Amino acid sequence: MVILSSWVLARKPKIINPFILEHPLFASLKRTFNCSSTRSGLVLNREEFQTVAQRKLILISLDWTRPKDPPLSLGHASILANLRHHNIDIFPRSWSVNVPTFSPDDVVEFIMMHANPYNDVALGAFVWNEQAIQHILRELKKHKFPGRVILGGPQVSYVKKGIEKYYRYADVYIRGYAENAIVKLMLSKSLFPCIKGVHYFGQPDLGLSAAAELDILPSPFLTKLILPQRFIRWETQRGCPFRCAFCQHRESDVSMKRRQFPMSRVIQEAEWIAKYSNIQDVAVLDPTFNSGPYYLDIMGKLIKEKYRGKLSLQCRIEMIKKEFLDKVVQLNDTAETVLEFGLQTTNPKEQAIINRSNNMKIVEKVLTQVRERNIKIEVSLIFGLPEQTITTFKKSIDFWFNHKVPVIHAFPLMLLRGTPLHEMKAELGLVESYEVASPEIDRVQTNIPHVASPSFTYEEWKEMSKIAESLEISTNNVSKSSNEKHNQFF
Ligand SMILES: C[S@@+](CC[C@H](N)C(=O)[O-])C[C@H]1O[C@@H](n2cnc3c(N)ncnc32)[C@H](O)[C@@H]1O
Ligand code: SF4
Repeated sequence: MVILSSWVLARKPKIINPFILEHPLFASLKRTFNCSSTRSGLVLNREEFQTVAQRKLILISLDWTRPKDPPLSLGHASILANLRHHNIDIFPRSWSVNVPTFSPDDVVEFIMMHANPYNDVALGAFVWNEQAIQHILRELKKHKFPGRVILGGPQVSYVKKGIEKYYRYADVYIRGYAENAIVKLMLSKSLFPCIKGVHYFGQPDLGLSAAAELDILPSPFLTKLILPQRFIRWETQRGCPFRCAFCQHRESDVSMKRRQFPMSRVIQEAEWIAKYSNIQDVAVLDPTFNSGPYYLDIMGKLIKEKYRGKLSLQCRIEMIKKEFLDKVVQLNDTAETVLEFGLQTTNPKEQAIINRSNNMKIVEKVLTQVRERNIKIEVSLIFGLPEQTITTFKKSIDFWFNHKVPVIHAFPLMLLRGTPLHEMKAELGLVESYEVASPEIDRVQTNIPHVASPSFTYEEWKEMSKIAESLEISTNNVSKSSNEKHNQFF
């Protein structure tokens, strides 16, 4: 009762396009949306359920893509594959937010083209599309979009309480892994079913996350949603067992723990990857590939199948095992493996604040082992950290230079929602700015703010940006010109 009346108080009844009001099915739905009596009032009778069963989903994905990216992002494809598996009617559409022609108004137009009381819209909120999402939500409100506006993605998942303050114009919020929750939402007899991790506007925010049911998710590759192509992104697990204070992959609570896809699925996908000779470049999205029980078996499968392309793996350097490096060497008989290590900083004070201590003795040992085996590596640092100075930043770079590491990236710090650094922003005196550090730096995006700390001046931040830029140029990284042609899917 309390829940429902707060929903109704918070929400003005949605006014719907007059010709839709004529539709005989609408009466039951309108009653459902405006129900103010009891919770059971939300459960539809049999006739009404047929209406719900006809609900369709406008599935919107606003990705930040590189020109080589597949036309469909892996996250979007995973949600789409599960909706299709459950025969839910979908209008899927994706946009690249980083192409100059992108306009959020086109997204609004697309959504409103399909607007009717039986169609819901779902959008994924990411740090790179925040401004576009806010604009779209405002416009949908203004145009009185009649269905449910469903919002998910990391920008929602990592806000543990009070999500409505961030997004006033959504109706439904999904925290955590959305694939299963969204299917339940679409198939339920009720418009407001009780699903763990799903929060409705106006109800008390329990801050729960939807659990991943990775065991039963259909694979976007094996279901032919993503076709064999030159470059693909792949995932074998989600989340990371570490807790670095700047990173969204960190294990933030029980429901966001690292989760493994079933071995059978990953092995079949590895076979699929090796089978198609046009797949020449695979970037594994796992934040820490060399964690968990299966990664050596996955390497074994790729070796057995003689995968011939490039394979990029993000790894935690202190967890590198000799057996893993030996497998990389074996795989490199046919393939080209690149190990990507983060380090962030060599300075103990900075490491303490970001909760990222690096055991430098082990790091050096691994570097020797990697060099002995002639394995390609890339390393990443962060600039703009609390307590950092231009001198400590240069020292972190020198560490890698002294170890003759040829590819070094230095990324400007981003304050990501839900991370401890984000929460400590005021305490640490961190200031955000949309100033672009350098268009040459991988991951620098015009619509993601970067961070200044009181430990360096604006001029010093500019100098760090210049150094980071020169690292990119000297390692010959491919420029991310947004003018290049992007793939289009829908
Ligand atoms: C997924 S992690 C790297 C691999 C591995 N898990 C590790 O930490 O060694 C990828 C890299 O993204 C960068 N990164 C992550 N969060 C960031 C943030 N908030 N600001 C700037 N760079 C960030 C870090 O340099 C990090 O090493
Ligand atoms: S930076 Fe790497 S190790 Fe740290 S939490 Fe993120 S993914 Fe895990």
